[in-house]
Amino acid sequence: MKYMIHLAIMSLIMSCTGRKEKVEMIETVSIIPIPNSFTYSTNSFVLNPDTKIYAPQECLVEAEFLQMLIKNEFEFTVSIQSTECESNCIKLTTNQISDSTHQGAEAYHLIIEPSLITINGHSNQGLFWGIQSLHQVFNQTDHQDGYAARIQGLKILDQPKFRHRGLLLDCCRHFFSKDVVKKYIELLSYYKMNVLHWHLTEDQGWRIEIEKYPELTQHGAWRIDADGIRYGGYYTKEDIQEIVAFATKHQVNIIPEIELPGHSQAAISSYPYLSCKQENVAVANDWGVFKEIYCAGNDSTFEFIENVLKEVMELFPYQYIHIGGDEAPKYRWEKCDKCQKRLVSENLKDEHELQSYFIQRIETFLNAHDKKLIGWDEILEGGLSPNATVQSWRGIDGGMRAAKNEHYAIMSPTSHCYIDYPLDAIDLKKVYSFNPIPDSLSPDKQHYILGGEVNMWTEHVPDEKNLDSKVFPRMLALSEVLWSGTDTSRYENFRNRVYNHFDVLDSLGVAYGAEAIPIRLITKGDSTYIIKNNRNIDLQYLIETADCTAKFQPYKEPIYMNMDGMLKARSVKNLVPFGETIEQHFCKRAENVQSISYRNMFSENYVGGGNNGLFDGKLGSLNFRDGNWQGFWGKHAEVTIAFENEQVINQVSAQFYHYINSWIFRPESMEVSVSENGTNWIPMGNIKSEIQKKKRGKMIIPMSINFKRPFLAKYLKIKALSVLQVPGWHEAAGADAWLFIDEIKIQ
Ligand code: ACM
Ligand code: ZN
Repeated sequence: MKYMIHLAIMSLIMSCTGRKEKVEMIETVSIIPIPNSFTYSTNSFVLNPDTKIYAPQECLVEAEFLQMLIKNEFEFTVSIQSTECESNCIKLTTNQISDSTHQGAEAYHLIIEPSLITINGHSNQGLFWGIQSLHQVFNQTDHQDGYAARIQGLKILDQPKFRHRGLLLDCCRHFFSKDVVKKYIELLSYYKMNVLHWHLTEDQGWRIEIEKYPELTQHGAWRIDADGIRYGGYYTKEDIQEIVAFATKHQVNIIPEIELPGHSQAAISSYPYLSCKQENVAVANDWGVFKEIYCAGNDSTFEFIENVLKEVMELFPYQYIHIGGDEAPKYRWEKCDKCQKRLVSENLKDEHELQSYFIQRIETFLNAHDKKLIGWDEILEGGLSPNATVQSWRGIDGGMRAAKNEHYAIMSPTSHCYIDYPLDAIDLKKVYSFNPIPDSLSPDKQHYILGGEVNMWTEHVPDEKNLDSKVFPRMLALSEVLWSGTDTSRYENFRNRVYNHFDVLDSLGVAYGAEAIPIRLITKGDSTYIIKNNRNIDLQYLIETADCTAKFQPYKEPIYMNMDGMLKARSVKNLVPFGETIEQHFCKRAENVQSISYRNMFSENYVGGGNNGLFDGKLGSLNFRDGNWQGFWGKHAEVTIAFENEQVINQVSAQFYHYINSWIFRPESMEVSVSENGTNWIPMGNIKSEIQKKKRGKMIIPMSINFKRPFLAKYLKIKALSVLQVPGWHEAAGADAWLFIDEIKIQ
């Protein structure tokens, strides 16, 4: 790579003869994740074809890896020897580390001096991470004449904070080739991430060859998409062996995920006897949660799963197998004679305990084969298996509960780690602010948090280019959080290092995306501010109202927006629009609101502006993750407003979201009541929804109550009645349903 990307700091001093002499030059290098301790020296090492790698027998694998990196980067081959050398030498060892603060298995020291580069790892893993740090230095080193490279002198003492640093890659919703998977393993390793959580089975496709059940891949790996095209693919055993060997070489462990009891429609489509109804179903070609799950009452289901897992365990050497466990609607089990018989025979209270029975039975099997089970946080419901590790995704509470009960946990909450979400929900800074160890977890339980993962679900990621733009650069933020710890004050420094890595990512063929949406709107009271998130852009805006459309104009000061209208804002780079135009609908806000209280709290994943969000004048869009929607999960929404003084009320209206594929249902009805003292309530009116519960598609539903006789209110209560549970006819029957509101208007 022939580029100079770094600030060169030249220090010139006067010699005693008065001549100016160049005595030192430090080129800063950007290492991600940032090392624990990092110092530059003024001397550098000259790497050339005569450089030798010294490696004792136990470091030979790492030596060969380093030799290959040098060949790829500098186009010459250095030799490896087993006798020690003292000059023009790179010395690899796995000796006891001298400094007492870096004693973890993955710790390493990397020292670059004029005639010697030393990398000492506490183990082969540590040694390998030291080589990856040197690799990053190489990638930021200017070539001199093709035969020598000046490697910046420095000293790094380093080790990770967390031992589980992962990426979940969903190869089921969309299939990614063996080469893409290997590219991701290389990139994980480059950023010292050590786990590929490989999502291999789903409703929409089974992706791993199982010899005993050939239909899984002959049939279950393929679906007929809505456009009539047959879509799919799978990995043969040979593919998997090749990928596992490649990962091992890169110090990346692969955790296969074989989903059960839910997300199993592709398997059921291949072998219908696995389900409660035992009827033919297609491999799913839509996104969501499906009610066909493995029957828990039928022993042949367990025989099937155990046979599958036997072949899986033979392929993957790592100690963990992920069994999913998430989003398994209990609807079929409730109506299945065999499942109900199992409930009775095993003395189980309900279907959650039946799921727990299911998972425990599989855990016993895995443990008997020296494997450990990981499952999504739903495996806590109905009782946790004795040795299970919990992966927390619906927030961090599941991981907290697991740790408090002395179970290991992996954190990947939707709030910070779902990199399938758009940048307006989770940008680089948001991932960087993630702290896998909640403050409230007592110190003696913190070691149960093994680390975290970013989750890359691929419903809306059809190809490698899209995948790259979602994963990068956000994965780098998690890599640094998990290796170096959470420190939001370091964000600017981190972002500048990320900018420096864009050249490296380019050269590695990674089609990385933006780190944040270019602009953001912030509303405080009547004023809306447009904030820049990227460098070198100018801001423009316009306001559209019912009787006025305007042209874009330069943004100079906060915009008054307490009105019914649409604000559009965009960024311009070199006079050309850059990124997407933001559109935000506003309405006139309710007046004289003194306080707002909730009977049921909204979900922390959909806070929609927080406590004041229903009265902030900002309306939601058809993107339900736009930050304006407030979500209530399995609960009614009931909000009480106290006014500063009595208000005349003519009309109360609200907007709701409806999109049943994501379990978001419009309310059954909305009710308004009034009170003089906040205790005794008088119902004033209600309205039922005119929209059918079953209606498909994404839509915003306004509901309004007009009072024939206006009344005075000091306290007003608005209640929107949720359907509470996803109805029986739905794919996710029985799950908690969402109710989404963006704004309550009072006139
Ligand atoms: C998940 O996102 N369903 C684990
Ligand atoms: Zn059943």
